This record gives sequence, structure tokens and C-alpha cells, in this order.
Amino acid sequence: MTSIVIVGGQWGDEGKAKVIDLLSEKADVVLRYQGGCNAGHTVVTGDKTYKFHLIPSGILYPGKICIIGNGTVINPQVLSGEIENLQAKGIDTSNLCVSPQAHLTLPYHIALDELSEEFLQNSKIGTTKRGIGPTYVDKIGRTGIRIEDLYEKEDLESRLDIILPQKNVILKHYGKKTFEKQEVLEFCEKYAQKLKPYVKDVNEIIHNALKNGQNILFEGAQGTMLDIDHGTYPYVTSSNPISAGASTGSGVGFTNIGKVIGVFKAYVTRVGEGPFLTELKGSEGEKLQQTGMEFGTTTGRKRRCGWFDAVIAKYSSMVNGLTGIAITKIDVLDNFDEIKICIAYKDSRNGKIYENYPSSTHIHKYLEPVYDVMPGWKQDISGVREFAGLPENARKFILKIESLTGVPVEVVSVGAQRSQTIIRNLPI
Ligand code: GDP
Ligand code: IMO
Ligand code: MG
Repeated sequence: MTSIVIVGGQWGDEGKAKVIDLLSEKADVVLRYQGGCNAGHTVVTGDKTYKFHLIPSGILYPGKICIIGNGTVINPQVLSGEIENLQAKGIDTSNLCVSPQAHLTLPYHIALDELSEEFLQNSKIGTTKRGIGPTYVDKIGRTGIRIEDLYEKEDLESRLDIILPQKNVILKHYGKKTFEKQEVLEFCEKYAQKLKPYVKDVNEIIHNALKNGQNILFEGAQGTMLDIDHGTYPYVTSSNPISAGASTGSGVGFTNIGKVIGVFKAYVTRVGEGPFLTELKGSEGEKLQQTGMEFGTTTGRKRRCGWFDAVIAKYSSMVNGLTGIAITKIDVLDNFDEIKICIAYKDSRNGKIYENYPSSTHIHKYLEPVYDVMPGWKQDISGVREFAGLPENARKFILKIESLTGVPVEVVSVGAQRSQTIIRNLPI
């Protein structure tokens, strides 16, 4: 059996959850490997819409083991709320497993995230203010608190004795609310009990599954261009959404992972600040935003919209080692006379053409997109279920992406519903 990583190829919100939902039926284990409740993953089935922030989308399929891996950061209040919401909708959560090694996002992380954004003023990142950056700062700085620490009261207290004064110095300096040990302890105790049934030795579960020939579906959050190393730094998130993150974030070696599917919207969106070379600021951008209903799942912010950027798609294909591509939301382009694909960047200072993504973000401010303009198809494709049934111009658009990236487009999504999918080659 093949284990598969699903990654976002752009700046997040590509429709990863829809693709994961599609593949979950045939997976044995679904695992989140990085990020936290900054993610907002939507699955639509019939008249029901589910929004996930921490729990793997595979939980909708009874019997699937769903793991929140060591590479994630967990706000215990958000996780408890998500479990309760699913249970209230009749979804069985008993197969949810949480890694004791995952780090906790605590209330002071959220306060520090808010402060950091305020402090950065015009250079703010536009974070989700969910405390993600400060939690990963503590993880790397070795001052983090992990899920397992919730169950060792003495250790937890002595760590808070060291950590809280450091945080409070900063918060106090900027006139913000400081945190008492007792209130943090009470917060931890409240959620420790609620989460206890889910905290399991996930290493054993994962490696037993692999030994028994079962497959794992790795659910990426965020996207390649938000990767802390490979994205548009500093306008990124604080983890590694790229496929390599699946290995560190779960403890599964590369040799156990067979395929990597990159999910791309048929156009591009971005929430928050940072470079976005194909961004459309006028009426076309507005049309994409309205037609695609591009509002952030987590924060409700309007997503910035622009044309498909094949330079980024090529880069994403390389850094993730993509074996296949899923294109989503192509139906959103149904009413455009012309559709553009960015095939290169041009340096406005000297006319130099970049066909490959330049890693140094400093030159981005001088670059402008070079477009290939294609005619639109001007018809409703949301009911199409086979590639051959798509209008010729839509097929040409997909094949163009395939030839520019050198990666086969295996799945095409023409609507939010599970059924609104064209499968050219089911990767699982
Ligand atoms: P994720 O974070 O990558 O899982 O994506 P989000 O859930 O944040 O955003 C994707 C949005 O697009 C959700 O509202 C989906 O229901 C919706 N969606 C997914 N695929 C399609 C599609 O092919 N067409 C349309 N119109 N909507 C889609
Ligand atoms: P999913 O999994 C889109 C963006 C934020 C901000 C930057 C840093 O739904 O695709 P953070 O709170 O992570 O420190 O914010 O990253 N961001 C996302 N954008 N989709 C997401 O997740 C995102 N998670 C974070 O808007 O620009
Ligand atoms: Mg999302």
C-alpha cells in the first residue's frame, strides 16, 4: 500500500481538505503533521459542511484512525471544542489519537502573536493570531510545553516557573496583560482531562499500521509558499507545510512515503500580507473573490485573488517532489472571457526573464508577471464528471499546467461537493 502526502501548492486554502476527503475512503490512517488551528479545512457532503482546524478531515469516515502528529501545535481549548462539535453532529471521534510530543499553544502564545503583529506595524505578517508563531518559537527555543506535560503536574509547574516570567517581562514592557501561573495551570488542568482519552503512543500506532501494510494519508496544512524555509519569508507560517514536513512531523521515514500530491487552485489566493505577483487588484480580482467565495475559513478575512502562477507551481512541484497534481475550483473560471497563466517573471529594471522561481525574495519587488493568455470556455462545468466531457479550452488549460510543471494532473475539482470531481488517475 502507498502512503501519500497531500500538500498545498500555493499560499494555503487550495482545497486540500476536499482532496483528502476524496482519498480518505481508501486510507487506513489520516495524519496532520504540522501547523495548528491556523488551518481551516472545509469538507462539503450533501447539505452538510464541516470545518476542521486541528482534527484530520478523515474523521468523517467511520473506522479511520486519525492522528494529530508530533509536528503540530495544539490549542487544547480549540481541540476540545472541535471534538465536542463533531460529537454533537454524530461523528465518532473515538479513533482520534493525539501525539504526546505535540506542543501546546497556551493563552500567552496568543497574546504574544497579537503583540508581535502590533509591534511590526506596517511590516506585519497578517497572521491568524492563533499563537502559532510563538508556540513554534518556544518549541525550537526548548521552552515549549508538550501535550505529555499536561499529565506531569510538578514538571509542568516548574517549567511554567521558568517560562512565564520571561513572557511577562515582554508583555509588561508593552503594557499588555501578564499571566499568573495559577490561571495557566487551571487552563491546562481543564483541558488535560478532556483530552486524556485521545493522548496515545502514536509512534506505535503509526509503525504498526505500516508493518501491517496499511497506508497513511498525510494531511498538509497551509501551503508551499507559506513554508518557513521555502516560502516568501518572512511572510510565511512557522512550520514546514512542504512534503518533507510529513516525515519530521510524524516520525515516518521517506522510504515509507510513496506519493506526493500537490493541490492547486485554478487561480491563486493569499490571506495576509506578503508578495503575490499575479494578484489582481481591480474588478477581475473582485470577480474571482466573489465567484470563488474567497473568505478565510479561520479568520473570515477576504482572500486576495490573482491568476494561476505556473512559476510557483513549477517551484512547488520541485520542492515537494510532486508525483501528481489536483486542480480545484476550476469552475470559478467558467465566466471569464480570457484566462491568464503566469509563465515567467520579468525584472522591470533590466528586462531579465525568470522562468524559474528566484529564491531570494528581495528581488520580488522588481518583478512583474509574464502571461500566456488563453480563451475561456464560458460554460458551466460544475456537472462534468469526466475529463473528456470538459470543454476544449478547459482541457487545454489543465494540459498547459501539466506541461509547464511536468507533473500529471490526476484530479480536477469542479465544485465543493464530494461528487463534483473528475478523476483521471486515483492516486491511492
Ligand atoms: P484548504 O484549507 O486547502 O482545505 O481549503 P479551504 O477549505 O480553506 O478552502 C477551499 C474552499 O473551496 C472551501 O470552501 C471548499 O468547500 C471550496 N472548494 C473546494 N473545491 C472546490 C471546487 O472545486 N469548486 C468550488 N467552487 N469550491 C471548492
Ligand atoms: P490552510 O491549512 C491560508 C497564513 C496567514 C498569514 C501567515 C502566517 O487552511 O490552508 P500564522 O497564523 O500561521 O502565523 O500566519 O500564514 N496562513 C494561512 N493562509 N490558509 C491557511 O491554512 C493558513 N494558515 C496560515 O494568513 O499570512
Ligand atoms: Mg483553509
